[in-house]
Amino acid sequence: MSKSQFGMIGLGTMGRNLVLNIADHGFAVCGYDRDTAQQQRLISEGEGKPVTVASSLSELVNNLEKPARIMLLVPAGKIVDAVLADLVPLLQKDDIVIDGGNSHFTDTDRRYTELQNSGIHFMGMGVSGGEEGARFGPSMMPGSNLQSFNAVKNILESIAAKTDEGPCVTFIGNGAAGHYTKMVHNGIEYAMMQLISEVYGILRDNGLSNDDLQKTFADWNRSELQSFLMEITADIFLRKDDRTDSLLLDMILDKAKQKGTGMWTSQSAMDLNVPIPTIDAAVSMRYLSAMKEERVAAAKKYPASNSSSAIDKTELISTCKQALQFGWLTSYTQGLDLLRQASKAYNYDVNIAEVLRIWKGGCIIRSAMLNDLKKAYLKDIGLTNIIQSDLFVSALTTLRNAAAKLCNIAIQTGEPVAALAASLNYFDAYTRAKLPVNLVQAQRDLFGAHTYERIDATGSFHTDWK
Ligand code: 6PG
Repeated sequence: MSKSQFGMIGLGTMGRNLVLNIADHGFAVCGYDRDTAQQQRLISEGEGKPVTVASSLSELVNNLEKPARIMLLVPAGKIVDAVLADLVPLLQKDDIVIDGGNSHFTDTDRRYTELQNSGIHFMGMGVSGGEEGARFGPSMMPGSNLQSFNAVKNILESIAAKTDEGPCVTFIGNGAAGHYTKMVHNGIEYAMMQLISEVYGILRDNGLSNDDLQKTFADWNRSELQSFLMEITADIFLRKDDRTDSLLLDMILDKAKQKGTGMWTSQSAMDLNVPIPTIDAAVSMRYLSAMKEERVAAAKKYPASNSSSAIDKTELISTCKQALQFGWLTSYTQGLDLLRQASKAYNYDVNIAEVLRIWKGGCIIRSAMLNDLKKAYLKDIGLTNIIQSDLFVSALTTLRNAAAKLCNIAIQTGEPVAALAASLNYFDAYTRAKLPVNLVQAQRDLFGAHTYERIDATGSFHTDWK
Protein backbone atom coordinates (compact mmCIF):
# COMPACT_ATOMS: atom_id res chain seq x y z
CA MET A 1 0.00 0.00 0.00
CA SER A 2 1.42 3.42 -0.88
CA LYS A 3 2.18 5.77 1.96
CA SER A 4 0.14 8.85 2.85
CA GLN A 5 1.57 12.35 2.48
CA PHE A 6 -0.10 13.79 5.55
CA GLY A 7 -1.33 12.55 8.92
CA MET A 8 -4.12 13.93 11.09
CA ILE A 9 -4.53 13.18 14.79
CA GLY A 10 -7.94 14.14 16.15
CA LEU A 11 -10.92 13.41 13.92
CA GLY A 12 -13.51 15.72 15.44
CA THR A 13 -15.44 17.97 13.05
CA MET A 14 -12.46 20.26 12.37
CA GLY A 15 -9.99 17.39 11.93
CA ARG A 16 -12.25 15.38 9.62
CA ASN A 17 -13.11 18.40 7.52
CA LEU A 18 -9.45 19.31 7.13
CA VAL A 19 -8.64 15.71 6.11
CA LEU A 20 -11.34 15.86 3.43
CA ASN A 21 -10.10 19.26 2.27
CA ILE A 22 -6.51 17.97 1.99
CA ALA A 23 -7.68 14.84 0.16
CA ASP A 24 -9.74 16.92 -2.28
CA HIS A 25 -6.51 18.67 -3.24
CA GLY A 26 -4.93 15.39 -4.28
CA PHE A 27 -2.89 14.53 -1.18
CA ALA A 28 -3.20 11.10 0.41
CA VAL A 29 -4.11 11.53 4.08
CA CYS A 30 -4.17 9.15 6.98
CA GLY A 31 -6.28 10.00 10.04
CA TYR A 32 -6.24 8.72 13.60
CA ASP A 33 -8.48 9.26 16.59
CA ARG A 34 -8.58 7.07 19.65
CA ASP A 35 -12.36 7.23 19.49
CA THR A 36 -13.38 4.50 17.05
CA ALA A 37 -16.69 6.24 16.30
CA GLN A 38 -14.71 9.18 14.85
CA GLN A 39 -12.58 6.74 12.85
CA GLN A 40 -15.75 5.25 11.39
CA ARG A 41 -17.10 8.68 10.50
CA LEU A 42 -13.97 9.49 8.53
CA ILE A 43 -14.08 6.12 6.78
CA SER A 44 -17.57 6.85 5.50
CA GLU A 45 -17.07 10.56 4.76
CA GLY A 46 -13.75 9.86 3.02
CA GLU A 47 -15.10 7.15 0.71
CA GLY A 48 -13.76 7.52 -2.81
CA LYS A 49 -11.05 9.94 -1.63
CA PRO A 50 -7.36 9.23 -0.89
CA VAL A 51 -8.16 8.84 2.81
CA THR A 52 -7.12 6.04 5.13
CA VAL A 53 -7.72 5.60 8.83
CA ALA A 54 -5.17 4.19 11.28
CA SER A 55 -6.20 2.34 14.42
CA SER A 56 -3.15 3.40 16.45
CA LEU A 57 -0.58 6.16 16.56
CA SER A 58 2.19 3.81 15.44
CA GLU A 59 0.10 2.62 12.51
CA LEU A 60 -0.45 6.26 11.56
CA VAL A 61 3.27 7.04 11.68
CA ASN A 62 4.13 3.88 9.73
CA ASN A 63 1.58 4.85 7.07
CA LEU A 64 3.29 8.16 6.34
CA GLU A 65 5.95 9.14 3.83
CA LYS A 66 9.19 10.33 5.41
CA PRO A 67 9.74 12.94 6.70
CA ALA A 68 6.34 12.56 8.32
CA ARG A 69 3.99 15.53 8.31
CA ILE A 70 1.40 15.28 11.04
CA MET A 71 -1.21 17.70 12.33
CA LEU A 72 -2.85 17.56 15.74
CA LEU A 73 -6.40 18.83 16.01
CA VAL A 74 -7.22 17.94 19.59
CA PRO A 75 -8.51 20.14 22.43
CA ALA A 76 -5.92 22.68 23.62
CA GLY A 77 -4.13 22.12 26.92
CA LYS A 78 -3.13 18.83 28.58
CA ILE A 79 -4.43 16.66 25.74
CA VAL A 80 -1.89 18.16 23.33
CA ASP A 81 0.90 17.28 25.78
CA ALA A 82 -0.48 13.77 26.27
CA VAL A 83 -0.65 13.12 22.51
CA LEU A 84 2.85 14.53 22.01
CA ALA A 85 4.20 12.29 24.79
CA ASP A 86 2.93 9.23 22.91
CA LEU A 87 3.74 10.49 19.42
CA VAL A 88 7.23 11.96 19.71
CA PRO A 89 8.98 8.61 20.56
CA LEU A 90 7.59 7.25 17.29
CA LEU A 91 9.06 10.08 15.21
CA GLN A 92 12.44 10.67 13.58
CA LYS A 93 14.61 13.67 12.82
CA ASP A 94 13.05 16.05 10.27
CA ASP A 95 9.48 14.87 10.93
CA ILE A 96 7.05 17.74 11.43
CA VAL A 97 4.29 18.02 14.00
CA ILE A 98 1.77 20.82 13.56
CA ASP A 99 -0.55 21.77 16.41
CA GLY A 100 -3.57 23.23 14.61
CA GLY A 101 -5.67 23.80 17.74
CA ASN A 102 -6.25 26.99 19.72
CA SER A 103 -3.28 26.39 22.03
CA HIS A 104 -2.06 29.07 24.39
CA PHE A 105 1.06 30.69 22.93
CA THR A 106 3.11 29.98 26.06
CA ASP A 107 2.36 26.24 25.71
CA THR A 108 3.41 26.41 22.07
CA ASP A 109 6.58 28.21 23.07
CA ARG A 110 7.40 25.50 25.62
CA ARG A 111 6.67 22.63 23.20
CA TYR A 112 8.70 24.31 20.45
CA THR A 113 11.69 24.71 22.78
CA GLU A 114 11.37 21.17 24.17
CA LEU A 115 11.52 19.65 20.69
CA GLN A 116 14.11 22.02 19.28
CA ASN A 117 17.14 19.79 19.99
CA SER A 118 15.47 16.56 18.90
CA GLY A 119 15.52 17.45 15.21
CA ILE A 120 11.73 17.04 15.15
CA HIS A 121 10.01 20.20 13.97
CA PHE A 122 7.14 21.58 15.97
CA MET A 123 4.83 24.14 14.46
CA GLY A 124 2.02 25.98 16.27
CA MET A 125 -0.57 26.99 13.72
CA GLY A 126 -3.77 28.96 14.20
CA VAL A 127 -6.61 27.74 11.98
CA SER A 128 -9.63 29.94 11.53
CA GLY A 129 -12.91 29.53 9.73
CA GLY A 130 -14.87 26.99 11.73
CA GLU A 131 -16.23 23.79 10.16
CA GLU A 132 -16.95 25.33 6.79
CA GLY A 133 -13.50 26.90 6.61
CA ALA A 134 -11.76 23.65 7.51
CA ARG A 135 -13.67 21.82 4.78
CA PHE A 136 -13.42 24.36 1.95
CA GLY A 137 -10.63 26.79 2.82
CA PRO A 138 -9.48 28.12 6.19
CA SER A 139 -7.12 30.96 6.97
CA MET A 140 -4.02 29.51 8.59
CA MET A 141 -1.41 31.13 10.78
CA PRO A 142 1.67 28.92 11.10
CA GLY A 143 4.62 29.95 13.24
CA SER A 144 7.92 28.23 14.20
CA ASN A 145 10.65 28.58 11.53
CA LEU A 146 10.83 29.01 7.79
CA GLN A 147 12.35 25.56 7.23
CA SER A 148 9.40 23.80 8.88
CA PHE A 149 6.94 26.02 7.04
CA ASN A 150 8.55 25.26 3.68
CA ALA A 151 8.18 21.55 4.31
CA VAL A 152 4.37 21.84 4.49
CA LYS A 153 3.87 24.97 2.40
CA ASN A 154 2.51 23.19 -0.70
CA ILE A 155 -0.20 21.38 1.24
CA LEU A 156 -1.18 24.43 3.31
CA GLU A 157 -1.34 26.69 0.26
CA SER A 158 -3.54 24.28 -1.64
CA ILE A 159 -6.09 23.82 1.14
CA ALA A 160 -6.23 27.48 2.26
CA ALA A 161 -8.98 29.92 1.33
CA LYS A 162 -8.00 32.01 -1.71
CA THR A 163 -8.49 35.72 -2.32
CA ASP A 164 -7.37 38.10 -5.07
CA GLU A 165 -4.11 38.21 -3.11
CA GLY A 166 -3.39 34.50 -3.03
CA PRO A 167 -3.81 31.71 -0.49
CA CYS A 168 -4.74 32.69 3.06
CA VAL A 169 -1.64 31.24 4.67
CA THR A 170 1.81 32.66 5.21
CA PHE A 171 4.75 32.06 7.49
CA ILE A 172 3.73 34.25 10.42
CA GLY A 173 6.95 34.35 12.37
CA ASN A 174 9.24 32.69 14.89
CA GLY A 175 8.27 30.25 17.64
CA ALA A 176 4.74 30.73 18.89
CA ALA A 177 3.98 33.63 16.51
CA GLY A 178 1.24 31.65 14.74
CA HIS A 179 -0.73 30.85 17.87
CA TYR A 180 -0.22 34.37 19.21
CA THR A 181 -1.63 35.81 15.99
CA LYS A 182 -4.62 33.43 16.13
CA MET A 183 -5.24 34.48 19.73
CA VAL A 184 -5.30 38.14 18.67
CA HIS A 185 -7.60 37.19 15.79
CA ASN A 186 -9.98 35.74 18.35
CA GLY A 187 -9.73 38.81 20.59
CA ILE A 188 -10.75 40.95 17.62
CA GLU A 189 -13.50 38.41 16.86
CA TYR A 190 -14.92 38.84 20.39
CA ALA A 191 -14.87 42.63 20.00
CA MET A 192 -16.52 42.65 16.58
CA MET A 193 -19.24 40.25 17.74
CA GLN A 194 -19.91 42.25 20.92
CA LEU A 195 -20.20 45.46 18.88
CA ILE A 196 -22.68 43.79 16.54
CA SER A 197 -24.74 42.62 19.50
CA GLU A 198 -24.78 46.13 21.01
CA VAL A 199 -26.06 47.64 17.77
CA TYR A 200 -28.58 44.79 17.45
CA GLY A 201 -29.84 45.54 20.97
CA ILE A 202 -30.37 49.22 20.20
CA LEU A 203 -32.14 48.58 16.91
CA ARG A 204 -34.30 45.78 18.34
CA ASP A 205 -35.34 47.87 21.31
CA ASN A 206 -36.18 50.74 18.98
CA GLY A 207 -38.73 48.65 17.17
CA LEU A 208 -36.88 46.92 14.32
CA SER A 209 -38.25 43.43 13.71
CA ASN A 210 -36.00 40.49 12.86
CA ASP A 211 -37.11 40.97 9.28
CA ASP A 212 -36.05 44.65 9.36
CA LEU A 213 -32.78 43.63 10.99
CA GLN A 214 -32.12 41.04 8.30
CA LYS A 215 -32.63 43.68 5.60
CA THR A 216 -30.46 46.20 7.44
CA PHE A 217 -27.61 43.76 7.99
CA ALA A 218 -27.82 42.43 4.43
CA ASP A 219 -27.67 46.03 3.23
CA TRP A 220 -24.64 46.74 5.45
CA ASN A 221 -23.01 43.65 4.04
CA ARG A 222 -22.99 45.44 0.68
CA SER A 223 -21.19 48.43 2.22
CA GLU A 224 -17.94 49.20 4.06
CA LEU A 225 -19.11 46.64 6.64
CA GLN A 226 -18.98 43.77 4.13
CA SER A 227 -17.74 40.78 6.12
CA PHE A 228 -18.30 37.19 7.12
CA LEU A 229 -19.84 38.24 10.45
CA MET A 230 -22.30 40.62 8.76
CA GLU A 231 -23.29 37.94 6.26
CA ILE A 232 -23.97 35.21 8.83
CA THR A 233 -25.74 37.63 11.17
CA ALA A 234 -28.16 38.72 8.45
CA ASP A 235 -29.04 35.05 7.90
CA ILE A 236 -29.49 34.40 11.63
CA PHE A 237 -32.38 36.89 11.82
CA LEU A 238 -34.52 34.80 9.46
CA ARG A 239 -33.96 31.36 10.93
CA LYS A 240 -37.16 29.75 12.21
CA ASP A 241 -37.22 27.74 15.41
CA ASP A 242 -37.87 24.02 14.95
CA ARG A 243 -39.66 23.67 18.28
CA THR A 244 -41.94 26.70 18.35
CA ASP A 245 -43.54 29.22 15.99
CA SER A 246 -40.94 31.84 16.93
CA LEU A 247 -37.75 32.84 15.21
CA LEU A 248 -34.80 30.91 16.63
CA LEU A 249 -32.85 34.00 17.71
CA ASP A 250 -35.71 35.03 20.01
CA MET A 251 -35.59 31.63 21.73
CA ILE A 252 -31.83 31.67 22.45
CA LEU A 253 -30.86 32.44 26.04
CA ASP A 254 -28.81 35.64 26.46
CA LYS A 255 -25.80 34.01 28.14
CA ALA A 256 -22.66 34.11 25.99
CA LYS A 257 -20.15 31.31 26.53
CA GLN A 258 -16.46 31.27 25.66
CA LYS A 259 -13.51 28.96 25.40
CA GLY A 260 -11.03 31.51 26.68
CA THR A 261 -9.05 32.86 23.74
CA GLY A 262 -10.54 36.35 24.16
CA MET A 263 -9.57 36.31 27.82
CA TRP A 264 -6.04 35.22 26.89
CA THR A 265 -5.79 38.21 24.55
CA SER A 266 -6.73 40.58 27.37
CA GLN A 267 -4.34 38.86 29.78
CA SER A 268 -1.46 39.06 27.34
CA ALA A 269 -2.20 42.70 26.55
CA MET A 270 -2.09 43.49 30.28
CA ASP A 271 1.27 41.73 30.55
CA LEU A 272 2.63 43.79 27.68
CA ASN A 273 1.00 47.05 28.86
CA VAL A 274 -0.94 47.42 25.63
CA PRO A 275 -4.42 49.00 25.88
CA ILE A 276 -7.10 46.93 24.13
CA PRO A 277 -10.21 48.15 25.96
CA THR A 278 -12.74 47.14 23.31
CA ILE A 279 -11.56 43.53 23.48
CA ASP A 280 -11.48 43.70 27.31
CA ALA A 281 -15.06 45.00 27.32
CA ALA A 282 -16.16 42.22 24.98
CA VAL A 283 -14.66 39.59 27.31
CA SER A 284 -16.23 41.21 30.39
CA MET A 285 -19.62 41.42 28.70
CA ARG A 286 -19.55 37.65 28.11
CA TYR A 287 -19.01 37.22 31.87
CA LEU A 288 -21.73 39.74 32.67
CA SER A 289 -24.14 38.06 30.29
CA ALA A 290 -23.51 34.77 32.07
CA MET A 291 -24.77 36.31 35.35
CA LYS A 292 -28.34 35.87 34.10
CA GLU A 293 -30.03 35.12 37.43
CA GLU A 294 -28.40 38.12 39.13
CA ARG A 295 -29.35 40.35 36.20
CA VAL A 296 -32.95 39.21 36.33
CA ALA A 297 -33.08 39.95 40.07
CA ALA A 298 -31.45 43.36 39.65
CA ALA A 299 -33.75 44.27 36.75
CA LYS A 300 -36.68 44.06 39.17
CA LYS A 301 -35.03 46.58 41.50
CA TYR A 302 -33.93 48.96 38.76
CA PRO A 303 -36.58 48.86 36.03
CA ALA A 304 -35.48 50.48 32.76
CA SER A 305 -36.84 54.02 32.71
CA ASN A 306 -37.00 54.52 28.99
CA SER A 307 -36.29 51.92 26.39
CA SER A 308 -36.53 53.71 23.09
CA SER A 309 -35.02 56.88 21.66
CA ALA A 310 -36.89 59.70 19.95
CA ILE A 311 -34.58 59.56 16.96
CA ASP A 312 -35.89 58.86 13.46
CA LYS A 313 -35.39 55.18 12.46
CA THR A 314 -33.53 55.87 9.22
CA GLU A 315 -31.18 58.19 11.03
CA LEU A 316 -30.71 55.66 13.83
CA ILE A 317 -29.81 52.91 11.35
CA SER A 318 -27.30 55.13 9.60
CA THR A 319 -25.75 56.16 12.95
CA CYS A 320 -25.53 52.50 13.98
CA LYS A 321 -23.78 51.64 10.74
CA GLN A 322 -21.12 54.29 11.18
CA ALA A 323 -20.71 53.51 14.87
CA LEU A 324 -20.17 49.86 14.02
CA GLN A 325 -17.57 50.82 11.43
CA PHE A 326 -15.84 52.89 14.08
CA GLY A 327 -15.98 50.08 16.65
CA TRP A 328 -14.63 47.52 14.20
CA LEU A 329 -11.82 49.77 13.03
CA THR A 330 -10.74 50.46 16.59
CA SER A 331 -10.98 46.73 17.41
CA TYR A 332 -8.67 45.84 14.55
CA THR A 333 -6.43 48.74 15.59
CA GLN A 334 -6.12 47.51 19.16
CA GLY A 335 -5.50 43.92 18.12
CA LEU A 336 -2.89 44.90 15.55
CA ASP A 337 -1.13 47.16 18.02
CA LEU A 338 -0.98 44.26 20.47
CA LEU A 339 0.39 41.99 17.75
CA ARG A 340 3.02 44.56 16.78
CA GLN A 341 4.17 45.00 20.35
CA ALA A 342 4.14 41.26 21.11
CA SER A 343 6.15 40.64 17.97
CA LYS A 344 8.77 43.06 19.26
CA ALA A 345 8.74 41.70 22.83
CA TYR A 346 8.88 38.02 21.82
CA ASN A 347 11.01 38.41 18.63
CA TYR A 348 8.29 36.94 16.43
CA ASP A 349 9.12 39.20 13.49
CA VAL A 350 5.51 39.34 12.28
CA ASN A 351 4.70 41.22 9.08
CA ILE A 352 1.36 42.88 9.87
CA ALA A 353 0.50 43.58 6.23
CA GLU A 354 0.90 39.86 5.48
CA VAL A 355 -1.31 38.95 8.44
CA LEU A 356 -3.97 41.31 7.08
CA ARG A 357 -3.64 39.68 3.67
CA ILE A 358 -4.28 36.17 5.02
CA TRP A 359 -7.18 37.38 7.17
CA LYS A 360 -8.95 38.59 4.01
CA GLY A 361 -10.37 35.13 3.36
CA GLY A 362 -11.35 32.01 5.26
CA CYS A 363 -11.26 33.42 8.79
CA ILE A 364 -14.04 34.64 11.05
CA ILE A 365 -12.91 38.29 11.07
CA ARG A 366 -12.53 38.64 7.30
CA SER A 367 -13.98 41.89 6.06
CA ALA A 368 -13.65 44.52 3.35
CA MET A 369 -11.97 46.82 5.89
CA LEU A 370 -8.84 44.67 5.84
CA ASN A 371 -7.97 46.01 2.38
CA ASP A 372 -7.64 49.57 3.66
CA LEU A 373 -5.88 48.48 6.83
CA LYS A 374 -3.36 46.59 4.75
CA LYS A 375 -2.80 49.62 2.50
CA ALA A 376 -1.97 51.68 5.59
CA TYR A 377 0.63 49.16 6.80
CA LEU A 378 2.14 48.84 3.32
CA LYS A 379 2.40 52.62 3.01
CA ASP A 380 4.10 52.92 6.36
CA ILE A 381 5.99 49.77 7.45
CA GLY A 382 6.64 51.17 10.93
CA LEU A 383 3.01 52.24 11.51
CA THR A 384 2.34 52.20 15.26
CA ASN A 385 -1.41 52.51 15.15
CA ILE A 386 -4.01 52.83 12.39
CA ILE A 387 -5.25 56.05 14.01
CA GLN A 388 -1.90 57.60 13.02
CA SER A 389 -2.31 56.71 9.36
CA ASP A 390 -3.19 59.65 7.10
CA LEU A 391 -5.36 57.23 5.13
CA PHE A 392 -7.77 56.97 8.08
CA VAL A 393 -7.90 60.47 9.56
CA SER A 394 -10.87 61.73 7.59
CA ALA A 395 -12.96 58.54 7.97
CA LEU A 396 -12.20 58.15 11.68
CA THR A 397 -13.12 61.78 12.34
CA THR A 398 -16.58 61.27 10.83
CA LEU A 399 -17.12 57.82 12.30
CA ARG A 400 -16.06 58.93 15.77
CA ASN A 401 -18.88 61.44 15.84
CA ALA A 402 -21.41 58.79 14.89
CA ALA A 403 -20.08 56.53 17.67
CA ALA A 404 -20.41 59.39 20.17
CA LYS A 405 -23.95 60.08 18.99
CA LEU A 406 -24.93 56.43 19.38
CA CYS A 407 -23.29 56.18 22.82
CA ASN A 408 -25.33 59.22 23.85
CA ILE A 409 -28.56 57.65 22.68
CA ALA A 410 -27.67 54.33 24.28
CA ILE A 411 -26.72 55.78 27.62
CA GLN A 412 -29.88 57.85 27.80
CA THR A 413 -32.06 54.87 27.01
CA GLY A 414 -30.21 52.44 29.27
CA GLU A 415 -28.75 50.28 26.49
CA PRO A 416 -25.40 48.82 27.51
CA VAL A 417 -22.74 49.67 24.91
CA ALA A 418 -19.59 48.63 26.75
CA ALA A 419 -17.54 47.83 23.66
CA LEU A 420 -18.61 50.87 21.67
CA ALA A 421 -17.97 53.19 24.61
CA ALA A 422 -14.58 51.52 25.12
CA SER A 423 -13.75 52.17 21.47
CA LEU A 424 -14.81 55.79 21.79
CA ASN A 425 -12.82 56.34 24.97
CA TYR A 426 -9.80 54.62 23.49
CA PHE A 427 -9.94 56.89 20.47
CA ASP A 428 -10.61 60.04 22.46
CA ALA A 429 -7.77 59.32 24.88
CA TYR A 430 -5.36 58.27 22.14
CA THR A 431 -6.03 61.43 20.14
CA ARG A 432 -5.83 63.82 23.11
CA ALA A 433 -2.45 65.48 23.61
CA LYS A 434 -3.15 66.25 27.24
CA LEU A 435 -4.79 63.82 29.67
CA PRO A 436 -5.72 64.60 33.27
CA VAL A 437 -3.42 61.93 34.71
CA ASN A 438 -0.97 64.53 35.96
CA LEU A 439 -3.30 64.35 38.96
CA VAL A 440 -2.74 60.59 39.30
CA GLN A 441 1.00 61.22 39.31
CA ALA A 442 0.60 63.89 42.00
CA GLN A 443 -1.46 61.50 44.16
CA ARG A 444 1.09 58.70 43.74
CA ASP A 445 3.87 61.00 44.72
CA LEU A 446 1.94 62.34 47.72
CA PHE A 447 1.04 59.01 49.30
CA GLY A 448 3.93 56.86 48.15
CA ALA A 449 6.80 59.11 47.06
CA HIS A 450 6.56 57.43 43.63
CA THR A 451 7.94 60.57 41.93
CA TYR A 452 6.66 62.31 38.80
CA GLU A 453 8.07 63.84 35.63
CA ARG A 454 7.68 67.54 34.83
CA ILE A 455 6.57 69.34 31.67
CA ASP A 456 9.43 71.83 31.91
CA ALA A 457 12.41 69.65 32.87
CA THR A 458 13.64 66.06 32.39
CA GLY A 459 14.21 63.56 35.20
CA SER A 460 12.19 62.33 38.19
CA PHE A 461 10.92 64.68 40.86
CA HIS A 462 9.55 64.24 44.34
CA THR A 463 7.78 66.81 46.47
CA ASP A 464 7.30 66.82 50.20
CA TRP A 465 3.52 67.35 49.96
CA LYS A 466 2.89 67.75 53.69
C1 6PG B 1 -12.14 30.62 14.38
C2 6PG B 1 -12.75 30.79 15.75
C3 6PG B 1 -12.66 29.57 16.58
C4 6PG B 1 -13.20 29.79 18.00
C5 6PG B 1 -14.68 29.88 18.06
C6 6PG B 1 -15.28 29.87 19.46
O1 6PG B 1 -11.29 31.44 14.08
O2 6PG B 1 -12.53 29.73 13.64
O3 6PG B 1 -12.08 31.81 16.41
O4 6PG B 1 -11.31 29.21 16.65
O5 6PG B 1 -12.83 28.73 18.79
O6 6PG B 1 -15.09 31.02 17.41
O7 6PG B 1 -14.70 30.74 20.33
P1 6PG B 1 -15.40 31.04 21.74
O8 6PG B 1 -16.05 29.76 22.18
O9 6PG B 1 -14.32 31.44 22.67
O10 6PG B 1 -16.40 32.10 21.48
